Amino acid sequence: MEDQVSILERARRGYSPKLPKVFNGGFSLQEEKPAAKTTFHNEIAKYFPHSIGLRPVSVVTGGTTLPATPLTVGVVFSGGQAPGGHNVVAGLLDALKSVNSDSRLIGFLGGPIGVVKNNWKELTPEMVDKYRNTGGFDLIGSGRDKIEKPEDLAACKRTLSELGAKGLVVIGGDDSNTNAAFLAEYFLSEGVDIQVIGVPKTIDGDMKNQFIEISFGFDTASKVFSESVGSICRDAMSACKYWHFIRLMGRAASHITLEVALQTQPNLAIISEEVETRQMTLRQVVDQIVDVVSRRSALGKDYGVLLIPEGLLEFLVDVKAMITELSAILGEHDEYIKSLPDHSERAQFLNSKFDPESAQVYASLPEGIQDVLLQRDKHGNIPLSQVETEKLLMDLVSDKIRLMTAEGEFDGEFNVLGHFFGYEGRCVQPSNFDADYCYSLGYTAAQLIRGGLTGYTVSASNLGKPVEEWVLGGVPVTSMLTMEMRKGKSKAVIKKTLVETDGPAFKAFAEKRDGWISDDSYQFPGPIQYFGPSEVCNALTKTLILEQS
Ligand code: FBP
Repeated sequence: MEDQVSILERARRGYSPKLPKVFNGGFSLQEEKPAAKTTFHNEIAKYFPHSIGLRPVSVVTGGTTLPATPLTVGVVFSGGQAPGGHNVVAGLLDALKSVNSDSRLIGFLGGPIGVVKNNWKELTPEMVDKYRNTGGFDLIGSGRDKIEKPEDLAACKRTLSELGAKGLVVIGGDDSNTNAAFLAEYFLSEGVDIQVIGVPKTIDGDMKNQFIEISFGFDTASKVFSESVGSICRDAMSACKYWHFIRLMGRAASHITLEVALQTQPNLAIISEEVETRQMTLRQVVDQIVDVVSRRSALGKDYGVLLIPEGLLEFLVDVKAMITELSAILGEHDEYIKSLPDHSERAQFLNSKFDPESAQVYASLPEGIQDVLLQRDKHGNIPLSQVETEKLLMDLVSDKIRLMTAEGEFDGEFNVLGHFFGYEGRCVQPSNFDADYCYSLGYTAAQLIRGGLTGYTVSASNLGKPVEEWVLGGVPVTSMLTMEMRKGKSKAVIKKTLVETDGPAFKAFAEKRDGWISDDSYQFPGPIQYFGPSEVCNALTKTLILEQS
């Protein structure tokens, strides 16, 4: 096992994540003023009669010390990997053991299904030590199962009660934290003393609000993608013969694309939220790209870099209308559609159900994309990482340029290469920011359980300041919920925060981007640095800096 550890990984084990100074001495949990009621408060209250109206809490210096009784706590990873997850576990374990060495941490295997199926292992300090500051979730694995059927909820109660667990920490994104809140509500309604606490995880950066400034993993993943995009920019300006169309992970939100654009200054970066605001169609986005390609070609630059957010299709006015209709059709006929033997029969059936406009939009997409649009994960989301939007755009832009060439409107070269950066950013050794942040999140989750809270997600603010000044606490999940259509049905879910086109990060991008079209203003951020000067190792994302300035 030791032989398999890389030199960096071994060196990185020696890194001691920093904690906010509030944890240096005596501390307690302080109730804050209630969060403002959300638009759907009354509807949400029907789903959460026991946990609606809870108040946010902060960890503060002094006050009544939290109980030091030994605790058994479960922990589970839910959803996609994000750098730093193992440090959440390490922070949680260290916090529990430092208060009472008889406390136990139980890791559920393979995600939430591990709780349902009573599949776990006890996480000892010796085990966890090998995973400190490493990427990945492989210590216990992860999964995307949703605990919602009455028998699954009852199974979780059985598993956790048999273990004598006081709490369960769910490390997940918006859907997983929503799920955690439902589980907390179920335990309350059953009169069972098992607390459920969520930890905000996702590279997508869309689980953020006034209580949570950023989800963990965004910092590291966007730095990894920025490194790769920067290298491609340099390749493009060295070879001067390719356009690179690069799709970046991030689901619906374009936070990652925006951050990478700010870091690397490509010739064009599409931001889905702006596309939606401007009510743009697929054809208009293609025209925009062709315009930039032509303008550069006229300057003798038949090369360039384009960034495309993973979720773009869902924001194009024509495609979005079709997807909304498709979701409603799937809500009613999912089983039947799945039972059809091949793609052409599925397409034929959909054609009979769609409005004429949607039928046309669906038919205009390549078969591969049509197929992916029919799939939904357990939370009702389209698996966007499998939608090859970069290839679609490569085809459509190439078609148009061919036409323009034939008509004498384009006399350059257009050679295009496609890339997708996503999975390579999810399991990297966490940056210093994520290593510290995750450790602090895990450490705080333990305090919320010690404080007897349930139905909360760990909150974090002041993150643009040195770690010592970070403010940690808990936010009731119910105060982050909204009602959303999933597979044609209205569901209570945590509101995803998309890029705000009047927000500081987008504004900074919009101010500069025109200059990036013709000039090669590329920036080369290089790889994440774990050792060296603080301004390099502890650099924050531009998004966080701009949002805090
Ligand atoms: P989470 O919301 O679970 O954190 O997922 C993040 C993510 O990496 C998305 O950016 C991406 O679309 C998705 O996971 C890919 O899912 P999968 O891991 O199931 O292929």
